[in-house]
Amino acid sequence: MKILVVGSGGREHAIVWKIAQSPKAEKIYCAPGNAGIAEYAECVDIPAMDFERLAAFAKEKEIDLTVIGMDDPLVGGIVDVFEKEGLRVFGPRKNAAILEGSKAFSKDLMKKYQIPTAAYETFSDPDAALEYLETAKLPIVLKADGLALGKGVLICNTLEEAKEGVKTIMLDKKFGSAGNEMVIEEFMTGREVSVLSFVDGKTIKTMSSAQDHKRAGDGDTGLNTGGMGNFSPSPFYTKEIDEFCQKHIYQATVDAMAAEGRPFQGVIFFGLMLTEDGPKVLEYNARFGDPEAQVVLPRMKTDIVDVFEACIDGTLDQVDLQFEDNACVCVVLASDGYPVSYEKGYPIHGLEKFKGADGYYCFHAGTKFKDGEIVTNGGRVLGITAIGKDLKEARANAYKAVDWVTFDNKYYRHDIGKAIDEAPEK
Ligand code: AMP
Ligand code: GLY
Repeated sequence: MKILVVGSGGREHAIVWKIAQSPKAEKIYCAPGNAGIAEYAECVDIPAMDFERLAAFAKEKEIDLTVIGMDDPLVGGIVDVFEKEGLRVFGPRKNAAILEGSKAFSKDLMKKYQIPTAAYETFSDPDAALEYLETAKLPIVLKADGLALGKGVLICNTLEEAKEGVKTIMLDKKFGSAGNEMVIEEFMTGREVSVLSFVDGKTIKTMSSAQDHKRAGDGDTGLNTGGMGNFSPSPFYTKEIDEFCQKHIYQATVDAMAAEGRPFQGVIFFGLMLTEDGPKVLEYNARFGDPEAQVVLPRMKTDIVDVFEACIDGTLDQVDLQFEDNACVCVVLASDGYPVSYEKGYPIHGLEKFKGADGYYCFHAGTKFKDGEIVTNGGRVLGITAIGKDLKEARANAYKAVDWVTFDNKYYRHDIGKAIDEAPEK
């Protein structure tokens, strides 16, 4: 088969790497890709948002399967454009990707179908939002309705901060049109878990759990980022919690989308908070997480091409989705200054150490070729990932491999997987 992957981050590198393991994959393309992806795929210089050119490329090359990695093209309707051209594509249509594209939509869906989540109100009028805040309990969470690169969520501890937040989102439009509407919701406490799943419109099969580290600095300080590292599985995600979520959250969401006439085909990423009152949904994403894909896919035993095809064909119930009984940790190497401002273009050294190092992976996020060298080309540069027989071993391996790679302004968190030490013994 000829397979095209759309995207250019560490997530797409992990997806391309996993596809390359499949005997079905004869030729892989990635648009636009990056320097690491180029090892397995021919990178094509077409932007992920140029749907018409991507579809034309897929037709010209007779691509058998296209996999969309990123949120923006999904929410923008790339799948509808491909389907109209008769192309096979893995990912939700626009009317289902709204699960990630609009927080107001997803909250209303959860309320209607009694899927556990934080109590909330939605607002399209800033004055109504400000009035509501006067009597709301603190801390309180403000969310821009639309996509905002993971930055459209403000946790406010005082009334002043919250009022300022409404202004930032709805009047100053810091997140653009994503702030035309907003959700104000109850603040929840507990451990966060990411559960990714494959969905074929009716059947859902969950992947092994993961835990992200969203803040830029050690000890969960600093700004929210796309994710600074993570580990899989989460030792806090017990069998009992899984049983509850399978019924009341995962299958309930898939059924709700189908009932709304928006059948979901692709990956649903459940961002969960394990609260004292049970698991609740923090957010949905309509795609693999990044870096979640980097710790989950290396542990997946099943041929991913078979799973993609089953999702498109509606035969996921016949797939036996299997994961290794091991653990994986990813530490993101970023450019100092991420997520605000950072320099690019520095040569990266030591990448060759991963060649032949079994169980060690270096997934590229922001890299490119320049004058025959691989240089930094983004905020998140590499995902240094290692397998271990358990989480502690995987963490030690990942941090060992962090030292293999050098580049100017290399920055990373030193405490990825700290929660592992607080986990109950198995
Ligand atoms: P989201 O993009 O909705 O996942 O939000 C980003 C981060 O904000 C989450 O990973 C949580 O750490 C935090 N967050 C979002 N909603 C809430 C909430 N209702 N209570 C507490 N923290 C939240
Ligand atoms: N790591 C969180 C995300 O992909 O949204």
